[in-house]
Amino acid sequence: MRSLVNRRQFLALAAASGLTTACGTAPPEPDPAPPVDVGTPLRVPPLLHPDPGPDGVRHYELTLQAGETEILPGKQTPTWGFNGPFLGPTLRAARGDRVRMSIRNTLGEASTVHWHGLRLPAAMDGGPHRPVDPGAEWTPEWEIDQPAATAWYHPHPHGKTSLHLYHGLAGVFVIDDGPDAGLPSEYGVDDVPLILQDKMFAEDGSFSGDPLKGPFGILGDHVLVNGVYDPGFAVLTERVRFRVLNASNARMYTLELSDRRHFQVVGNDRGLLGTPAEVDQVPLTPGERVEIVVAFTPGEQVVLRTVDNGLDIGKGDFDLLRLVTASELRPTPAPGEQIVPFTAITPAADARVRHFTLNARDSINGRTMDMARIDEVVPTGAVEIWEVENSASSHNFHIHEVSFQILDVAGTPPPAHSAGYKDTVFVPTRSTVRLAVQFGRYADPGAPYMYHCHLLRHEDAGMMGQFVIVEPGTEDTVSRTLLLAHPGH
Ligand code: C2O
Ligand code: CU
Repeated sequence: MRSLVNRRQFLALAAASGLTTACGTAPPEPDPAPPVDVGTPLRVPPLLHPDPGPDGVRHYELTLQAGETEILPGKQTPTWGFNGPFLGPTLRAARGDRVRMSIRNTLGEASTVHWHGLRLPAAMDGGPHRPVDPGAEWTPEWEIDQPAATAWYHPHPHGKTSLHLYHGLAGVFVIDDGPDAGLPSEYGVDDVPLILQDKMFAEDGSFSGDPLKGPFGILGDHVLVNGVYDPGFAVLTERVRFRVLNASNARMYTLELSDRRHFQVVGNDRGLLGTPAEVDQVPLTPGERVEIVVAFTPGEQVVLRTVDNGLDIGKGDFDLLRLVTASELRPTPAPGEQIVPFTAITPAADARVRHFTLNARDSINGRTMDMARIDEVVPTGAVEIWEVENSASSHNFHIHEVSFQILDVAGTPPPAHSAGYKDTVFVPTRSTVRLAVQFGRYADPGAPYMYHCHLLRHEDAGMMGQFVIVEPGTEDTVSRTLLLAHPGH
C-alpha cells in the first residue's frame, strides 16, 4: 500500500487553505512538487461532528461492532470498533453544545461507553453501572461545559475493560472552546490525532496475549498508530499539532523525534497549557493525552518514536510514525507565548485531604473494587487535595469527571510540560503524587464516578474505587451502599 500526495492534491489542499491567490492573473505555475512517498499511510479517524438538530442538540450515533482489519500485510485481524471495524471516529463538540449519544451495541456481549476526560453527570458517564446489552441502545445527553481539550471514549464494563480496549474500542473526543488560540487546527492536515496501542499477534494475524495475565496484562511488541502498523504521514505545513492518546493496556511511552529535535507541549489531558513547554521527550502512560506542536523543514524525514525508559512498562524502542515533509510547506505561525489564559486550581488552606494507597494485590487503601460500595463522598464544586501513594509496582491514577493539577511528585513540583489540567497521572513506584482536584457541579448520590489505575489489568482486577458528588451539607446523610440495578455485572 503506497500513498502519494502528488502536486495536484497538494495544490488542492493549498487552495482549500487559502494559500493560492483567489483573483487576478493566474499565479505562475510552480515547479511540479515531487510526490511525498510515505509508505503505508497513517489512517486519520473520520470526524463525527453532526449539525445541531431542530431541538438544538448535536446527535451522535455510535455503533459498537466486530469486524476484520488488515494490519499485518496479507492477514486479517478480528477487531472491534465504533461505526467501523477498528477504533472509532473522532467526535467533536464545543463548549456550550448540547450533545446526545446514541450508543448501539451489536457485539455478542454487554459493554459500556465511558467519556474519559468529560465533565458530565454521573448517570451519563458510562461506567460499569451502565452496561449496554447486545441489541440494546443507550442515549446519554449532556451539555459540554469545559475548556478545549483532547478527551476520548472507550468501554468500561466491569472486569472487562482491558479486553474491550484491546480489541480496538477507543476513539478521540475533541472539545473546542472558542477560537483555537493560534494553534494548527485543520483536522487531518495539521491537527492530527494519534491513538497509540501496542499489540501482540498470533500466526494467523489475530491479536494474542491475555490482557488479564501477568503483572501488566499486555505489553505488545507491535505499536499501532490509529490502528496502522508502521505508518507514514505526509507533512504539508511548517508545523503540525499532534493530539497523542495512549490507549494501550499497560505500555508507557517516552515520545521523541528521531533527530532529538525539540518540540512544544501545548496541552495536557484536560486542556491547553497557558504557555507552550519546550521539550525533547515527553512521557505518556495509559489514558493520558498530550498535545504537541512539531516544526518541520521542507523535504525531510523524521520519525516519531518511543524509547526505553528503564521501567517495566516502558521497555523497548519502537518507531511509531514516519513524518515525510513536502518540498514546499505551507506557513504556520509558531504558538504564541501565551496560548490561553490559565487559572491554576488552588485548594484552600483548609482543603480536605484524602489519601489513597495503591497496594500490591490490586487494591486501593486495602480494598478492591465493589460496585455496591461508595468509597468517597465529595460536595459539588469542591477543590480537594488527593494524595496518591504507590507502595507497589508501576501504576497510574485516573479520576472520572474532575480536572486536576499535579502539586508535586515525591515532593517535587511537576515539569512545565505536565503542569496543566489533567485527569490521569503516573505514580512512580514507592512515591506519592499530590493533586489539586477540582470537582464538578452535578450532584447525584445514587450514581458513582470511578477512580482507578489505568493500567487496565489492574483496573479490571479491582484497583478501583467509587465516589459520588452530592449537595454540600448532605455528605453524612447519603447512603454508602448502592442497590445494584445489574447484579452480576
Ligand atoms: Cu479511561 Cu475509568 O477510564
Ligand atoms: Cu496499576
